[in-house]
Amino acid sequence: MTVAPDTEIFDTARKAQFAITLHDEAAFEGMRKAGRLAAEVLDLMVDLVKPGVTTAALDKVAYDYILAHGATPACLGYRGYRHTVCTSINHVVCHGIPADKPLRDGDVVNIDVTVILDGWHGDTSRMYPVGEMKLKAARLVDVTYESMMRGIAAAKPGNTTGDIGHAIQSYAEGQERFSVVRDFCGHGLGKIFHTLPNIVHYGKPGHGVPLKPGMFFTIEPMINIGGYGVKVLNDGWTAVTRDRSLSAQFEHSVGITETGVEIFTASPKGLDKPPYF
Ligand code: MF3
Ligand code: CO
Ligand code: CO
Repeated sequence: MTVAPDTEIFDTARKAQFAITLHDEAAFEGMRKAGRLAAEVLDLMVDLVKPGVTTAALDKVAYDYILAHGATPACLGYRGYRHTVCTSINHVVCHGIPADKPLRDGDVVNIDVTVILDGWHGDTSRMYPVGEMKLKAARLVDVTYESMMRGIAAAKPGNTTGDIGHAIQSYAEGQERFSVVRDFCGHGLGKIFHTLPNIVHYGKPGHGVPLKPGMFFTIEPMINIGGYGVKVLNDGWTAVTRDRSLSAQFEHSVGITETGVEIFTASPKGLDKPPYF
């Protein structure tokens, strides 16, 4: 629980505390509705993801569902992004762009959706096996989901953002020998899509920002089978593993409560992780 007071990390963390919104009960209610809608979109994908389906078709289904429920896709038009969901296949780490190339048996794809409902953002992603899942992929997907849930379990008053990162890293790297992506992190959200605090998925106990009731943020670890190195392709979005090893990610939006944490994006159907039947 100690950190040298003269380090840059400490200074950044100290400043960040004053820029983080502590939300009230009405905001929790808004996030519950937005989170639920985002989770419904991902529930919808369960029966659709199969060999031969294009990610562009999945994007269209997500777009239609969000609009039909009085919400807006947050990614559409965000920093020039032109789609509703991100679809990140195999060695794509995140921000994969929906396209007309059909999914193939044995692929694993992350679908990441963010909705805006009544001004509140619900941001969540899950991994989907396409047809038969290979053993190595299944293990990576399991470990990535467990990493996210261990991070969520560490999200409570009295802990810090570093405790979340440490819970994830000590498990995914220390225990399971996979690697945690460093170049992308979770983020504060609410009325704003991406804000403070940054939730990096590695770290040391007690470091970073102290967690307080009313803080909203995502926990969205990206875990690679190989090294943690990532590069972004020429399209300006698609992030891939440098060694082309398999990568997986899950994401929930959460809120810190007086006693712990509330997950806003839990699946209403219990389809939070594969196998989905
Ligand atoms: N949903 C992503 C996240 O978890 C953000 C995607 S931004 C986009 O933060 F523009 F690529 F869609
Ligand atoms: Co996010
Ligand atoms: Co997301």
